[in-house]
Amino acid sequence: MRIETLALHAGFDLDPTTRALAVPLYQTVAYGFDSSEHAAALFNLEVDGHRYSRISNPTNNVLEVRIAAMEGGLQALSVASGQAALHYAVSNILRPGRNLVSVPQLYGTTHSMFAHYLPDLGIEVRFADSDRPEDVESVIDDNTRGVYCESVGNPAGNVADIAGLAAAAHRHHVPLIVDNTVPTPVLLRPIEHGADIVVQSLTKFLGGHGTSIGGAIIDSGRFPWRDFPDRFPMFSEPDPSYQGLVYTEHFGDAAFIARCRSVHLRTTGAALSPFNAFMLLQGIETVAVRVDRHVENARHVAEFLRRDPRVQWVSYAGFADSPQYAMVQKYLGGRACSLLTFGVRDGYAGGVRFYDALKLVKRVVNLGDCKSLACHPASTTHRQMSADEQKRAGVTQETIRLSIGIEHVDDIIADLDQALEAAVDGAASHPRAAPVSCTPLEIVS
Ligand SMILES: Cc1ncc(COP(=O)(O)O)c(C=O)c1O
Repeated sequence: MRIETLALHAGFDLDPTTRALAVPLYQTVAYGFDSSEHAAALFNLEVDGHRYSRISNPTNNVLEVRIAAMEGGLQALSVASGQAALHYAVSNILRPGRNLVSVPQLYGTTHSMFAHYLPDLGIEVRFADSDRPEDVESVIDDNTRGVYCESVGNPAGNVADIAGLAAAAHRHHVPLIVDNTVPTPVLLRPIEHGADIVVQSLTKFLGGHGTSIGGAIIDSGRFPWRDFPDRFPMFSEPDPSYQGLVYTEHFGDAAFIARCRSVHLRTTGAALSPFNAFMLLQGIETVAVRVDRHVENARHVAEFLRRDPRVQWVSYAGFADSPQYAMVQKYLGGRACSLLTFGVRDGYAGGVRFYDALKLVKRVVNLGDCKSLACHPASTTHRQMSADEQKRAGVTQETIRLSIGIEHVDDIIADLDQALEAAVDGAASHPRAAPVSCTPLEIVS
């Protein structure tokens, strides 16, 4: 089935007990056991069933099956946020003394996890100079246990060469992990291009309505963990925390998600609330039609900004002269994402005047909502980075990131127009020159 259909039907037909058409919300903590023998069999993972909602829940399970189907993966695990998904995915393969290799264009909190949090746990993260596969491969060494990228960088807008990065990772017998939050599986399915593990912030386009934080880890089921027992002993050696279970023996190709659930989710507990799973499922039903509208509106907004002499530069991967254009054709079917960045004339000061004058477009640090949103990454999402790190992540002092929503595009453009006018009025004597495009992407790619 196609993505539009999977988004509505994967993982659920009619409720077997009540024949309900909508996915029921199982707002319960615990589940009854038939007997002590039944309880023991559940705890030994010998029979299917639920024990406790920190570990699994029927509403969450529908979400997991649905997102796995949409990403073309074998299995998925839902968790409390996109950051929890990322943390569990990398914790599942990394131990102290080992390292993860990452591209430099990252969401700010992901950068913080990689630059500060994981090193405190004895795990090094090596940042490549760019997202080019040859640059990434040049920092892989014998202690590397995974390669990481965002399929479309937030906010840089760079489109990763997933096939090239997967080939580089696989030459060194390690998996490629891809954060696919910005394009969603509607525009790009990294597993089809060789990625092994995908992480998602369901908070963004998939949920789509800005009501619920959530995340998911999706496993392709293709990485041959059992072929590399020295590199990934956690999958092929008995787990003392779980009665000596050997994940590859018990779960075969599904070992990755089983271990994420049994070790990370069970012990550290960033479980997705069933209510949020229910809300996210409502959003996912319409994600394909929403993404069409997001993409179309963003194209019109990018063209408007580019034509406007009050704008200094626009970075939008859908412009034919963008350095990302070829990758948009290859990986996104020619449909650039609805996240774009630009700089107003008069740099930081002009940007602040523009930002403060917005009315319809909201000043928030979120993306992927139905509503159009604006963010100033240097002072918010990417504030913890050094100036050099910001530059490599595609953030300059004046950069404004827009997440274009699904309102009528004329209303979005009218708001941007009045805010640009306010920015110019604030600097009436400012000289005007011809606009240019794509500056941050030239820095980062
Ligand atoms: C690309 C990307 N990945 C992950 C996250 C983290 O998601 P969450 O807020 O659900 O933890 C974000 C949040 O903005 C993001 O933009």
